[in-house]
Amino acid sequence: MNIKKVGVVGCGLMGHGIVQVAAQGGCTVIALETEQAYLDKGISRIEKSIAKLASKDVKKGKLTEDQAKDWATEVRGRITGSINREDLADCDLVVEAIVEDLDAKKELFGALGKLCKAETIFASNTSSFPVAEMAVASGRPERFVGLHFFNPVQLMRLVEVVRTDATDEDVYAAARAFGEACGKTPVSCKDTPGFVVNRLLVPYMVQAINMLDRGDASAADIDAAMQLGCGHPMGPLTLTDYVGLDTTLSILEGWCERYPNEPAFGIPDSLRSKVAEGKLGRKTGQGYYTWEGDKKS
Ligand code: CAA
Ligand code: NAD
Repeated sequence: MNIKKVGVVGCGLMGHGIVQVAAQGGCTVIALETEQAYLDKGISRIEKSIAKLASKDVKKGKLTEDQAKDWATEVRGRITGSINREDLADCDLVVEAIVEDLDAKKELFGALGKLCKAETIFASNTSSFPVAEMAVASGRPERFVGLHFFNPVQLMRLVEVVRTDATDEDVYAAARAFGEACGKTPVSCKDTPGFVVNRLLVPYMVQAINMLDRGDASAADIDAAMQLGCGHPMGPLTLTDYVGLDTTLSILEGWCERYPNEPAFGIPDSLRSKVAEGKLGRKTGQGYYTWEGDKKS
């Protein structure tokens, strides 16, 4: 099963990166958004990222200026934006990267199940929801996987490939091959809460927020401790801002509802209150830190 044409639904923080790495991997890609303004923002991020990667390759001596320019033009040329779901009808694969809201994801897959060709494989980039529930909503559970990319997609080398009890073997193999074509190393995961990475990472982020809220240490010291003491590239509070406080809260709310007796899945008060105030982290300029563009101020 050869994946040549890919639809990516949602061109936000994750979606724009997935569009880009799929195009870098040689696929023709349609990026679908709800509104032209969101699409324009996502495409502009892609263009900046492609330009950055191209100029890095020139600096490293991997490509000449002309080769880098041709590469950037080729990758950009494989991407088309759309705000019309019907444009995904003949995709070989559709990857969903919309907000972490299970009802919204189910509604989307229900509609895509009716409009896409019978061979189309569906994948969700969900951080935390059961893949099997979306698979059932799509009406084609045997052609459904989780493809969980990491933020920033252009730089993080992992993709978790999640198969449910219903996923066909050749669909799983095609999804894995697609992950590799995107330049990622796939790991195989069962359909469990948070798969591998988030099951470990999100409770760790929660513990760091609790530590800050109790006044045990400052945000800067907690982050420095994990960077310098454990060699992490970012501390947990910077990472929470980076992921998005809204996404982190949605992950935890889903887990707390489904697994009320699991102590690792508590929701810190400060996370709830910051989200209620619209302080969503790097994307809004304020979270556990203040941000100016992509950098902490
Ligand atoms: N495209 C192209 N280039 C990019 C880029 C992008 N999207 N983002 C950053 N870069 C470039 C920067 O411009 C910079 O280039 P120069 O060296 O030329 O300046 C370079 O990459 C390094 O970036 P920074 O200087 O900003 O910072 P850094 O050295 O700390 O690296 C990082 C950034 C790779 C993100 C690193 O901090 C890191 O690995 N952080 C941890 C990220 C992480 O844990 N992600 C997982 C989150 S959890 C998740 O995704 C799952 C979920 O479901 C919630
Ligand atoms: P985001 O809010 O940055 O982007 C979501 C985008 O989807 C928005 O641009 C929105 O306009 C669009 N959208 C919403 N409903 C849509 C619909 N019905 N059709 C088309 N577009 C729609 O969110 P994000 O951080 O990119 O997260 C997207 C998904 O990826 C979530 O499931 C999240 O859990 C998961 N994820 C997030 C991260 C992270 O670090 N933020 C990492 C891995 C996975």
